[in-house]
Amino acid sequence: MASKYDLSGMNIPNHVAVIMDGNGRWAKKRMLPRNMGHKAGANAVEKIIEEAHDIGIKYLTVYAFSTENWNRPEQEVSALMKLLRNYLEDCIKKADKNNIRVRVIGERNRLAEDIIDRINELEEASKHNDGINFTIALNYGSRDEITRAIKKIAKECEDGVLKAEDINEETVSKHLDTFDMPDPDLLIRTSGEERLSNYLLWQLAYTEFYFTDVLWPDFDREELEKAVIKYNERDRRFGKVSE
Ligand code: FPP
Repeated sequence: MASKYDLSGMNIPNHVAVIMDGNGRWAKKRMLPRNMGHKAGANAVEKIIEEAHDIGIKYLTVYAFSTENWNRPEQEVSALMKLLRNYLEDCIKKADKNNIRVRVIGERNRLAEDIIDRINELEEASKHNDGINFTIALNYGSRDEITRAIKKIAKECEDGVLKAEDINEETVSKHLDTFDMPDPDLLIRTSGEERLSNYLLWQLAYTEFYFTDVLWPDFDREELEKAVIKYNERDRRFGKVSE
């Protein structure tokens, strides 16, 4: 957990969202099967939660499986599900020990029943933990999330609980899976790709983006510190002019 850079006096982003890309290429470079890349990626997740907490980041949200990832070869999908299953099981003990509050965002219904049970158990067991808030986006797609939010809002209008003219941005935010979380301050995407891939489209409206060529399994504390330093060089104006 040694720091390479001195972050004292720096503005630490409250919420960091991550697109963990490059597991496949990491494995290929080592002549290993893709699944070994995902395994190394899962190990990197475990380490980075602790590092983020130590740096002072309060919310960390990672993209583990997108609504589009079902289109990968069946063998890769089932290996990823197995990895997530094991991770969720492990996480119950770790969340308690390290005071981590875990949430899962995304459409749960398509997930296996035992995975849904594990998610519910983990969220319930960790809900009073007040260390870092760690969120896993699982079977997550931003367009799907927004569509589900619209359906919920429409239903409330139909039921007479809500009037169409009262719908505002806060109404939308409160119907998203991230309803009880602040918007991300910093988005990190690894492996050199520079796109959002249907991740947190609403929530990233004013977020600073940081792209790095480092492959996700190699993303460590030093890389996270570099991202925080870059974040501090940005001038966040939220549509206003600089003071
Ligand atoms: C993208 O790399 C990564 C994924 C689709 C999966 C991310 C999953 C993990 C890091 C492991 C499990 C997560 C948790 C929370 C324990 P890629 O396969 O697209 O890599 P490539 O672009 O190099 O092929």
